[in-house]
Amino acid sequence: MADQDWAADDYDDGHDFVYEYGGDVVELLDPQPGERVLDLGCGTGHLTAEIADYGAEVVGIDAAAEMTEQARSNYPDLEYRNADAREFTTDEEFDAVFSNAALHWIPDEDHDTVLERVHNALTPAGRFVAEMGGNGNVEQIATAAIEEVQARGYESTHPWYFPALGEYTSRIESHGFEVTRAVLFDRPTELDDGRDGLANWLDMFGDSIFAALDTDEQADVIEAVEDRLRASLFDPETETWAADYRRLRFVAQCD
Ligand code: BEZ
Repeated sequence: MADQDWAADDYDDGHDFVYEYGGDVVELLDPQPGERVLDLGCGTGHLTAEIADYGAEVVGIDAAAEMTEQARSNYPDLEYRNADAREFTTDEEFDAVFSNAALHWIPDEDHDTVLERVHNALTPAGRFVAEMGGNGNVEQIATAAIEEVQARGYESTHPWYFPALGEYTSRIESHGFEVTRAVLFDRPTELDDGRDGLANWLDMFGDSIFAALDTDEQADVIEAVEDRLRASLFDPETETWAADYRRLRFVAQCD
């Protein structure tokens, strides 16, 4: 998994678009009362709670202890477990596994293990419903940030896995699923915090890109990235940044 420090408070305060957009994926999941649902990479627990509101019995798991602690504090009545998507096992079977904006943090080479774990966690008629960054997601932002770090003489590589639709649906199907719906679409996403939106996004999510830099160098890189992207991603009228998100969304049924 990309080396990322999860400041759960900041995540909740300044990046609520992550779970606000995730509401669409919950609708696609269409949780039924009494169904057992596993929320994989539940973050601070907001979508887990939304699923519970449908009357489902839901368990949230996340690899970052900061996230599950915050989720428990946000929703003390719900169950959250600290577990890695590549290693989790469950005693009980679930009717559905759900995941929003989490899978792209897991490196390419580990996805077969994750998909096997997901399949093992499901009943024979279970489904896997998820959204992640798809091919080309945040390409302008990632490219500008990596190039600016490299221009200062440091190494920096792309920390996320954003697969193409055909690549990932084939991968899912090789693990005992039938993909019944899949779509890759552009979703420019307005960032919180106005003029500071892009800087805050990079501060929150760019740990691995900036790993070699000290604080001053990181601030300098972020300013350079803002200068490069202002013309394409900043709207001067509303004074907001829009990240160049591309989403890969799918429904897969155990077969
Ligand atoms: C995303 O949800 O697409 C995303 C979030 C943070 C970093 C990279 C991608």
